[in-house]
Amino acid sequence: MSSIMPDPQEHQAPKVEALLAWYDANRRVLPWRAQAGRRADPYHVWLSEIMLQQTTVQAVDRYYRAFLSRWPTVQHLAAASLDEVLAAWAGLGYYARARNLHRTAKIVAGQMAGRFPDTAAGLRALPGIGPYTAGAIAAIAFDEPQAAVDANAERVIARLFLIETPLPAAKAQLRARTQALVPRRRAGDFAQALMDLGAMICTPKAPQCPRCPWHKACLGRARGLVETLPRKAVKPDRPLKRGVAFVAVDAKGAILLQRRAEEGLLGGMMQPPLGPWAADFPSEPEALEQAPFAASWKRCPGFVRHQFTHFELEIEVYSARLARRPRTQGRWVQADALGEAALPTVMRKIIEHGLGARAVTRAYAVSARNS
Ligand code: ADE
Repeated sequence: MSSIMPDPQEHQAPKVEALLAWYDANRRVLPWRAQAGRRADPYHVWLSEIMLQQTTVQAVDRYYRAFLSRWPTVQHLAAASLDEVLAAWAGLGYYARARNLHRTAKIVAGQMAGRFPDTAAGLRALPGIGPYTAGAIAAIAFDEPQAAVDANAERVIARLFLIETPLPAAKAQLRARTQALVPRRRAGDFAQALMDLGAMICTPKAPQCPRCPWHKACLGRARGLVETLPRKAVKPDRPLKRGVAFVAVDAKGAILLQRRAEEGLLGGMMQPPLGPWAADFPSEPEALEQAPFAASWKRCPGFVRHQFTHFELEIEVYSARLARRPRTQGRWVQADALGEAALPTVMRKIIEHGLGARAVTRAYAVSARNS
């Protein structure tokens, strides 16, 4: 026997039944999940899967409940305006998801009599639904035997089969391995069981191997390599971009907001007037040339930092209190109505900073991903 192989007495192939039995006893209660043995509503599954694409279960919970109580069916969501949907999405990040959500709701309500396609192939044709989401919805809502390979599943499968190819190159291999395990019955429970195993037992750090239903089958554990898997290609450092923003407050406490271009980062969302982003902050005279109008702009001490997926952003904020509103492009929104505006998290931080709500930058150093 080669020394790299685990002892065959100990090792056994992963049994799907063992994972499903563990799931039946330990499944998480989540607002979008059906009760055990029931099929979930496809609208609920789709809405939750879109929200969960780049966001944690904990962060999604509140937004999911709010969307469902405001738009209980896909027809209700289709009848909403894009602006209402973007405003309700504000803070969740990755705003292209909200636009695609609205486009898909219109297609399903208008062209499909309110019924979602019941196969992964049919679902893939809808905006915002990639291979993972199509597999997850098809399995969870329709029990089609499809794999739903997210980061949790990738971690579990890389460890289980000791796949040492780094991500992202390993993706196709991990997907094929997962698909080969999907049972003909209970495909939806299998998908959710892998998610729960990844979230509760097979965690990135300090996994709870002794409690794992696949303990004996896991080649990564047998080799003592669990915590090193999945391997990941080294990512280049995130570049840093810097710029300035202008928080203008009128005599009644309203703040000037402008809409971002429809396409691109944070497309269609609102922001206070912002200058261009460059490698460094502009000097004060340069910054004032970028202001939307002349006023007694004051630079607020410190800056706001925000982390996007592919870069880091630092913004110096200039604020001005105005006796009279100047003629300028944009919309004036009362500070207490900002909650209803389509404001991404980074723009909220900028406004808070400009209002002196938080004096120093440090409070903002730990930021949400791309939100
Ligand atoms: N992550 C992505 N989809 C999920 C789901 N349906 N339940 C829990 N976590 C998830």
